[in-house]
Amino acid sequence: MNSVFGFLHSSLGKKYIMAITGAVLFAFVVAHMLGNLQIFLGPEMINGYAAFLKSKPELLWLARIGLLLMAVLHIVSAIQLSRMNKAARPLAYGNARIVAASYASRTMLMSGLIIFTFVIYHLLHFTVALPAANLLPAGTDFRALHDTGGRHDVYRMMILGYSNVWVSGFYILGMALLCLHLSHGLSSMFQSVGLKQRPYDKLIDRFAQSAAWIIFIGNCSIPIAVLLGYGK
Ligand code: HEM
Repeated sequence: MNSVFGFLHSSLGKKYIMAITGAVLFAFVVAHMLGNLQIFLGPEMINGYAAFLKSKPELLWLARIGLLLMAVLHIVSAIQLSRMNKAARPLAYGNARIVAASYASRTMLMSGLIIFTFVIYHLLHFTVALPAANLLPAGTDFRALHDTGGRHDVYRMMILGYSNVWVSGFYILGMALLCLHLSHGLSSMFQSVGLKQRPYDKLIDRFAQSAAWIIFIGNCSIPIAVLLGYGK
């Protein structure tokens, strides 16, 4: 038992925690994007999908708590690892080292913390549906939107939500940072668990880059389509 705790507190143990929690969070991001893209299939599809997700509150809360736990473990391990790395390397690197590391890899902690702020805003915007978060004319309340079937009108909420250019701009910025984070994180996930070895290392890097771009394009297509008039 002591050795398990010892491992979890070691630098390698924390890398494993980051890899596993990162993989679960990535799976959520992919599933969430596929769910959201149903907006292009019309209100019936996306409202039905949202109603289905909310039809089993126990499962929904279990998933929410699991996701929150993954996010907390991922962030806490990242901060601890960064402290451990700094303690092991008291002198700052010279310029030569900085050139060798990619921009994404050097900004992982920062992009991760900004993504966290983005998620808090996103939850206030759509899940809590706080009127002050939508930056629309006073009285616009997403919680009051219902379709003809009496379901929460998630379709209209998204169209209204992204019709504000500042809100859409903030989402696009959030997606850019998420994808920068994923472009490095996905490949270091394989490295942490010892799977990034020749001859597959280049393939893993390419997978990470492509997945990050797909998430960026897929997610940004929604606010951009709305700004261009979709759903009006
Ligand atoms: C443009 C991209 C995105 C769109 C269009 C979008 C859309 C939505 C919508 C409409 C909801 C509310 C669903 C409902 O109340 O029925 C939601 C909830 C949520 N979103 Fe997103 N989302 C996007 C990106 C993201 C990203 C990148 C993350 C995480 C990194 C994320 C995490 C969440 C979470 C955790 C919830 C709460 C789910 C729950 O109710 O438990 N979203 N999203």
